[in-house]
Amino acid sequence: MVLVSGSGSNLQALLDACGDPAYGAQVLAVGADRHGTYGVERAEAAGVATFVERVSDHPDRAAWDSALTAAVAAYEPDLVISAGFLKLVGPTFLEEFTDRYVNTHNSLLPSFAGIHGPRDALEYGVKVAGATLFFVDAGVDTGPIVAQVAVEVADDDTEETLTERIKQAERRQLVDVVGAMVGRGWTIDGRKVTIG
Ligand code: GRF
Repeated sequence: MVLVSGSGSNLQALLDACGDPAYGAQVLAVGADRHGTYGVERAEAAGVATFVERVSDHPDRAAWDSALTAAVAAYEPDLVISAGFLKLVGPTFLEEFTDRYVNTHNSLLPSFAGIHGPRDALEYGVKVAGATLFFVDAGVDTGPIVAQVAVEVADDDTEETLTERIKQAERRQLVDVVGAMVGRGWTIDGRKVTIG
């Protein structure tokens, strides 16, 4: 199960991987928090079920959280992946999918949490940037880390070039690690995550 808000290039990488039965995982459905995302179009093109749960269609955030939880739970996913999903889920969702909800973020956490990871990394002047796959908890980009991949920052990088280089590494990591998780399972002991 994959949640998206935007272009869905990470989703596409997963859909492409799932095209090979040897990969061992499948995308059961794709959910979005808004209409008209390219991510949902990509899912439809791949013949994958989709749904949209907008906060504005519910009386309050808690009602949206419950509706999103029910929509995802209906597919009984082993793993829920936030791939550019721009909403913080609430306590109902986190309880239902404890230790089963991961997010991919375009920085080496705990550095540069938030929505401008590559820009913040560039402005800070770091020489190495990257992407992090982590279990979502109640904080913003604070949960236990599953995997990280590093990319070098070039002297002439702009926000656009660094963002794209990170995304290429991020997509490879997502496909590799999700495949390993679904195939071999995972354990979480405090902050330590082990696959297999
Ligand atoms: C990813 O780089 C992710 O880290 C960030 O948003 C981007 C989503 O890209 N939170 P896409 O929608 O998968 O193309």
